[in-house]
Amino acid sequence: MESSATSLAATPPMGWNSWNMFGSEISEKAIRETADAITASGLKDCGYEYIVIDDCWSQKESRDSNGDLFPDPRKFPNGMKALADYVHEKGLKIGIYSDAAERTCAGYIGSYGFEDQDAQLWASWGMDFLKYDYCNAPADQAAAIRRYKRMGEALKKTGREFLYSLCEWGGRYPYLWGKDAGGAMWRVSGDVFDSWVDIWVPTYNFYGIGVDTSFDIAARVYEYGGPGGWNDLDMLVVGLKGKGQVTGNGMSFIEYQTHMSLWCIACSPLMIGCDVRTMEKETAFLLTNREVLAVNQDKAGIPGRRVRQYGSLEIWKKPLLDGSVAVALINRGSTGNDITLKASDTGMLDTSKTARNLWTQEDIADFKEELILRVQPHQTILLKVSV
Ligand code: GLA
Repeated sequence: MESSATSLAATPPMGWNSWNMFGSEISEKAIRETADAITASGLKDCGYEYIVIDDCWSQKESRDSNGDLFPDPRKFPNGMKALADYVHEKGLKIGIYSDAAERTCAGYIGSYGFEDQDAQLWASWGMDFLKYDYCNAPADQAAAIRRYKRMGEALKKTGREFLYSLCEWGGRYPYLWGKDAGGAMWRVSGDVFDSWVDIWVPTYNFYGIGVDTSFDIAARVYEYGGPGGWNDLDMLVVGLKGKGQVTGNGMSFIEYQTHMSLWCIACSPLMIGCDVRTMEKETAFLLTNREVLAVNQDKAGIPGRRVRQYGSLEIWKKPLLDGSVAVALINRGSTGNDITLKASDTGMLDTSKTARNLWTQEDIADFKEELILRVQPHQTILLKVSV
């Protein structure tokens, strides 16, 4: 029988998460308005489904007299059940956050030792998703496996279906045991910032990951993702433009497009991080291109891999269910360059092939042996190649 994680996350989960934009200033108002905007803007029709409340939602210092977590009344005056009902009425799902230690990353109360009680509470509110973080927890892999399993079992015991999202940042190889712990997605890197290159973040005392680095991370772990368990490259920074919690240098349109192309070809979950209430046209364009999203959501569920790299130029390939392949031509360098796609890169030899540019949704060429395309600095051309 298919496990519930497999049927729930048969393709990479899609949605929105509060952290990148709102950080600790998350509120019921922001969540309601986001649910409205996701519905009204057409994002819901594209498949964005989960609205996840990240860190800082609870009362910071204590549990209530029953030992239950409770939402900060300033941020969530009507409580979580009413909010979950509101989100469900829109045909969307709702997620919550906690940490496998006594404190979360932002220092709020965590769930260690209260796994069953917290899972029951979230189920009673109608939560559909849990992101479970790993700050302030022991560094070793065995402890992480124990702690993640413990919560995975607690979620199962509630009888409610939860999509369980693991967030230990990849260091303890969660792709080897995440599914076994009940997880359907697991982070494979530290936090991605709104920046092309890695940046030092003094507030957190760590390096924020830039999109350029995510290529190398995705290339290392691609073989571990698939239906029911996905490598999570982190929330999207598309459209943040220097605003929010993970501020960096901001990125250009071309860089955001490359970011989206990588997340799609690598089969990463697509959790929007920007403020969708005030989304610009260009951001909507990047988040709602159905041919690009179809690469991410392809039912074969095979993460793309890097097939060739020369200098800062790369070619990635992802086989699709209909026998065609998605191909990404990527220029990570700072000068424009020609990239040659060879028949051998596609696996389709000795036959005439059509290349369709998925971002512009146009068939651009027929070729047999090779196709040469000019790729701008930091640009990705995303193609579908079929015979
Ligand atoms: C960690 C996680 C982030 C976010 C913050 C919240 O840094 O990796 O995604 O959840 O904690 O404090």
